[in-house]
Amino acid sequence: MTILDDLERYYDSVPRTGGARAEELGSLTLFVQQGAGWPYYARPTPGAGPVTAEEVHRVRLRQRELGVPEAFEWVAETTPSLRAAAEAAGLAVHEHPLMALAADAEQPPPHPEVRLMGADDPLLRAAVTVPALAFAEPGTALGAAGPAELTAALADPGTADRAAHVSARLASGASGLAAAVRDGVVLASGIHNPLDGVAEVVGVGTLPRMRRQGLALGVTSALVADARARGVGLVFLSAGDEDVARIYARAGFRRVGTALIAEPVS
Ligand SMILES: CC(C)(COP(=O)(O)OP(=O)(O)OC[C@H]1O[C@@H](n2cnc3c(N)ncnc32)[C@H](O)[C@@H]1OP(=O)(O)O)[C@@H](O)C(=O)NCCC(=O)NCCS
Repeated sequence: MTILDDLERYYDSVPRTGGARAEELGSLTLFVQQGAGWPYYARPTPGAGPVTAEEVHRVRLRQRELGVPEAFEWVAETTPSLRAAAEAAGLAVHEHPLMALAADAEQPPPHPEVRLMGADDPLLRAAVTVPALAFAEPGTALGAAGPAELTAALADPGTADRAAHVSARLASGASGLAAAVRDGVVLASGIHNPLDGVAEVVGVGTLPRMRRQGLALGVTSALVADARARGVGLVFLSAGDEDVARIYARAGFRRVGTALIAEPVS
């Protein structure tokens, strides 16, 4: 078994255990979220043959029918046929460095402002809201939103639903969450989702005004330490771009492939 085989198994299992229904449509599997939580995507069915543009079309029709995002995610090296099929079906394909933690990776020293959060942490709602502000200002440069914007965003009742969902995952052990907190304010956070010895790090974000202080590196290292403490042998992630990949490389991640995401041209 290679790392990419392990990742294929993980990508196919996580939605099923995360409350999604799987619909097999030719060489593709569409995961449809049944309850609260993030919407899923369609991806290649493990072991299926090459994917055709017609199959991508068919899945898009089904996604529209269900009112879910027309999103496809896969690993370029594992399913090379899907890129051309997605493009022929009119989708835009985005590349992201796929990285895995080197087995012998040494971690930077723990960041004094970063801690793990449990299901009942009073700052959990802020911790799950910070990435929304972070991803609204992509890239690694300093940006506009800071603690005041976080306070304003927390007035949105939707943040309570998101916190409740993450809280349940923390309570069950399906996720771990690390956050950087200064003077009682969450400045950065991230999550990892362990399953059967593999964990993906997702949603690492720093308040745009608080970037470039080493907070994301501290959060990532804490997530790695938590995953390892739970016996996870393979920690991986897909980085937004090469600039973000550089930050993860400092935490010991190495490039193992290319994660591809296809979605309608905007
Ligand atoms: C990507 C992101 C999480 C990084 O957060 P961050 O807290 O700024 O990350 P770090 O501070 O650890 O590292 C960022 C840079 O600051 C530098 N830095 C760290 N501490 C520093 C300090 N004390 N002084 C000056 N620079 C510092 C790092 O070396 C790094 O530099 P580089 O871009 O030249 O490699 C943040 O920019 C973000 O939220 N972006 C949008 C969402 C996103 O893309 N998330 C990642 C998804 S995969």
